[in-house]
Amino acid sequence: MKSPKRQPITARANLLIDLLIFVGFLLATAPRFTGIAIHEWLGIAFGAAIITHLLIHWQWIIAVGKKLFSRAHAPARLNYILNLLLFIDVTLITFTGIMISEVVLPLFGLRLAHAPIWTRLHSLTSDAGVILIGLHIALHWSWIVKTATRLFTSFLPKPKAHAEMNTQEVAQ
Ligand code: HEM
Repeated sequence: MKSPKRQPITARANLLIDLLIFVGFLLATAPRFTGIAIHEWLGIAFGAAIITHLLIHWQWIIAVGKKLFSRAHAPARLNYILNLLLFIDVTLITFTGIMISEVVLPLFGLRLAHAPIWTRLHSLTSDAGVILIGLHIALHWSWIVKTATRLFTSFLPKPKAHAEMNTQEVAQ
């Protein structure tokens, strides 16, 4: 009997990593909930993870960018532009966050003059991040539902026993 089709490990791993990034971002938007020290370290980890992720895939980004802007394909182009905006936004959130840091910078003996514009920009870019991530999720919704369904059904008991029972009933 053919074994049930299993989702490739990469799609499952991707879904779990995406979920982790999403929860990390949600936590980072709530400094009053986490406390400022956790907020700053989480924000730095988040920024570093996204920037590293993009640098690792830099060749892909350039190659796809060239292709997309020579041959128009609306949804893929929208996705690309959205990802680019997300990258710029996360870089700005991390930069402005560091400019207003109350815990991490003083730990390294640095204390910047506290200009309110950085706090305002930090708040604005993180609001933009919430909107961009919402759009990013909306654009990938069918993939999320498909992968999550396969992931969770793979934990359920396999229908094999049920199918075998039916075969025995027919034979009797
Ligand atoms: C994904 C990354 C981040 C997100 C989504 C984020 C989001 C936010 C939000 C929503 C606030 C509240 C703003 C307000 O009250 O209007 C805030 C405050 C703050 N963030 Fe971040 N942040 C991030 C990264 C960072 C980093 C990397 C640092 C510093 C190293 C940082 C330092 C701060 C500080 C010091 C405040 C308090 C500002 C104040 O109320 O005076 N943040 N952040």
